[in-house]
Amino acid sequence: MAKKKMHLAQFLVHGPTYHSLAMWRHPETAARNYDWSQPELYQHIAKVCERGKFDMVFFADLNYISDTFRGSLEPALRYATQAPEHDPIPLLSWMAAATTHIGLGATLSVSHHQPFYAARLWATIDHLTRGRAAWNVVTSLNHNQAANYGEERQDSDQRYERAHEFVEVCRKLWQSWDEDAVIMDRENARFADAGKVRRIEHQGKHFKSRGPLNVIRSPQNGPAILQAGTSPKGIDFAAQYSDAIFAIQPRAEDAAAYYTTVKDRMARFNRKPDDCKILFGMQPIIGASEAEALEKQALHNSLVPLDGGLAILSAHLDFDLSRLSPDVDMTQREEPELQRLKTRYRKTSGEPMTLAEVAMRHGQSVGLPQFVGTPAAIVDQMEAFLETAGGDGFMLSPIYCPGAIEEFVDQVVPELQRRRLFRTDYTGTTQRDHLGQN
Ligand SMILES: Cc1cc2nc3c(=O)[nH]c(=O)nc-3n(C[C@H](O)[C@H](O)[C@H](O)COP(=O)(O)O)c2cc1C
Repeated sequence: MAKKKMHLAQFLVHGPTYHSLAMWRHPETAARNYDWSQPELYQHIAKVCERGKFDMVFFADLNYISDTFRGSLEPALRYATQAPEHDPIPLLSWMAAATTHIGLGATLSVSHHQPFYAARLWATIDHLTRGRAAWNVVTSLNHNQAANYGEERQDSDQRYERAHEFVEVCRKLWQSWDEDAVIMDRENARFADAGKVRRIEHQGKHFKSRGPLNVIRSPQNGPAILQAGTSPKGIDFAAQYSDAIFAIQPRAEDAAAYYTTVKDRMARFNRKPDDCKILFGMQPIIGASEAEALEKQALHNSLVPLDGGLAILSAHLDFDLSRLSPDVDMTQREEPELQRLKTRYRKTSGEPMTLAEVAMRHGQSVGLPQFVGTPAAIVDQMEAFLETAGGDGFMLSPIYCPGAIEEFVDQVVPELQRRRLFRTDYTGTTQRDHLGQN
């Protein structure tokens, strides 16, 4: 039987820090005269990833600089804990201009905007990218982000209830134009057929929107939908709407349980398991020999300051970890905000894990597993992970940039292709084509 091909996406942030707090100060980054604020870098990355035949490049996004750790902005600014972060969405059309096939995804939180704005923005991006757009629909839990929009932080029920209605309204708006509504009959002065453009008259609990959208139907009829969120409500949301999920599961056994949960849940919404691909985050660390790769890993991990790790973890949990001693055992904490850490950070032996250990791992990779070795060894690890997990692919996060993405494309992708684990060329032109959903 032919091997099932994996899916690959490249994780990016429009800022100096991705999952590694060491990235911006890494000697490899510095040596390449890295300037994350210059748009040329992103066209370069898009072209490299397209050369590697990736499904997409993907931007996370946050709308705040965190003061959660010690109640101060200083740690976030000092260590660049995913701050600053420029808006990634304008970059998508800039990257589209330099490429022809690769999918272009970015995050826009549904916690602060109106669906009409988002539906219009994403339909326009889908046009500008000729059907290569993907929207990562997230809900936001950080009080700093809520405060930037003059709002209070919302609990999980409120966030996801609003998110469901938000996406439903967007879908109605994208459907408000039939495919053949534009007739462009110049002779008879008829641009569009008004019988093929409808109001939506949405009146819900959170939103009202009359429609129609003032954007013609886009190539994918709205972008591909991505999701990232681990709670049962987040999983339900993904199972219902998503074309792909970005998931962080450090251990393949836990990834397998998660994979089964999501794919089973999809049946409730009359969707087939393959309709939503799961992309597991991972940080490749490539060397010419195993020893060189291990040395690279040690250097990278040593460049993360403990206080930086505590600051970024505090921001992600929206819980001030300066209240705890770095020596406390995180596996025993009862605070509700800390429970989500227990699945991400634990030792297989069941030994205690201190706050300092957890914070260091979070600063190094936000919990993404590090796959370390020669290109062939990395492919072995990828193959083994997906075999245990069940499928479908990876979200790659570099330890330095530029440089690490190029190494993966030039050294690991050919090995994946040689083993028939990854495509050697695109077979379609849209984001959903690449995800195998057309
Ligand atoms: C892998 C992953 C990536 C995420 N990326 C973002 C992001 O880029 N921007 C954002 O605002 N939230 C992001 N989130 C946060 C989620 O959208 C969500 O707010 C958080 O996980 C809480 O939701 P949950 O209770 O369903 O897990 C991410 C979460 C996960 C698990």
